[in-house]
Amino acid sequence: MENFQKRILVTGGAGFIGSHLVRRLLQKYPQNLIVNLDKLTYAGNLTNLEDVENLPNYVFEKVDIVDVIALKEVFEKHKITDIIHLAAESHVDRSIEGPMEFVMTNVVGTVNLLQVAKDSWGKEEGHVFHHVSTDEVYGSLGEEGLFTEETSYDPRSPYSASKASSDHFVMAFYHTYGLPIKMSNCSNNYGSHHFPEKLIPLMIHNIKNSKPLPVYGKGDNIRDWLWVEDHASAIDKIFHEGRIGESYNVGGLNEWTNIELVHFLCRLMDKKLGREAGESEKLITYVTDRAGHDKRYAIDASKLEKELGWTPSITFEEGLEKTVDWYLENSEWVDRITSGSYKEYYQKMYTNR
Ligand code: NAD
Ligand code: TYD
Repeated sequence: MENFQKRILVTGGAGFIGSHLVRRLLQKYPQNLIVNLDKLTYAGNLTNLEDVENLPNYVFEKVDIVDVIALKEVFEKHKITDIIHLAAESHVDRSIEGPMEFVMTNVVGTVNLLQVAKDSWGKEEGHVFHHVSTDEVYGSLGEEGLFTEETSYDPRSPYSASKASSDHFVMAFYHTYGLPIKMSNCSNNYGSHHFPEKLIPLMIHNIKNSKPLPVYGKGDNIRDWLWVEDHASAIDKIFHEGRIGESYNVGGLNEWTNIELVHFLCRLMDKKLGREAGESEKLITYVTDRAGHDKRYAIDASKLEKELGWTPSITFEEGLEKTVDWYLENSEWVDRITSGSYKEYYQKMYTNR
């Protein structure tokens, strides 16, 4: 067995955020082994990591985190020293359609991982279990205020309820068994390799193909957007330098209403696609609102900035331009990812809504 300094298990590394994080860790820390463990659901795609899969510090294991026996085998086989846990069912609309998959992966899967880490590491020092979570656990804000690490949990969707439950188990394993945990709760991410069921990649895909742009309700819900590579840099920072037993909010003070954002994307893409100004905005279609739609999310990330000196590296306008360019240059990625069960999903979600 090679002499790596750390042997880090990253769960969900074939997904959107996980693949950005895995690439960063592989390239920045060649002294560490990265074991990417992923079930490869509809959201997981190994081509996301094609450019780095031959690096000597990379291993992939196709495993479902609900399968505790398989998890133990991976732990023993690779002598795992640390975990960064991202594997999850991540889409609110899918959680409304069917919450049980969210309970299994997000709650049961997380408790399995905690249990295996606890059994394997015992009281040994120097290990870290970093749980990656969301600001959606805090619920919905009114017009004023920001979520801090002290904000009470108040999840409202089946997705956020399952993530809140997993966060509570992570803290329970710290307080009860002394498991060395760290946690981060981040705002909405955007960037390349984002599955086109979420707002930004769906809008880019539909603008490009001149399809209707489904805006839920009045389009006045507010989200706080962060570039995915900035989220990966925050996880890197917290994993290496954050305090054990602490949670850190991650965000870039970047609030937009959904409709402002869709207009911005239409204007940007009209220019990129050589269309007449205003052409894509004609595709905007208001549709029935999401059930229990959270009004506003906004993150106060000052603890992370003060303690660890982390700030986002680029503006939203820069990040959106990079993202649009990536989707326009990688249409075969989108075509491949949308060719399977996505079609059925799209039909169900958006026809006669
Ligand atoms: P994603 O849906 O793109 O990827 C999830 C990955 O987990 C996929 O590769 C999938 O195959 C894998 N997975 C799902 N179920 C699994 C199981 N049972 N066993 C093993 N692997 C499984 O999600 P994402 O957007 O990259 O989110 C990653 C994490 O970050 C999640 O925990 C999510 O809650 C959190 N998060 C996401 C955002 C966001 O805006 N996307 C913001 C804050 C936090
Ligand atoms: P989404 O990307 O699903 O992230 P989340 O629900 O986790 O914040 O949605 C972002 C916002 O965009 C949310 O307010 C719902 C809205 N939305 C639409 O208006 N139309 C869509 O087709 C989608 C997918 C989302």
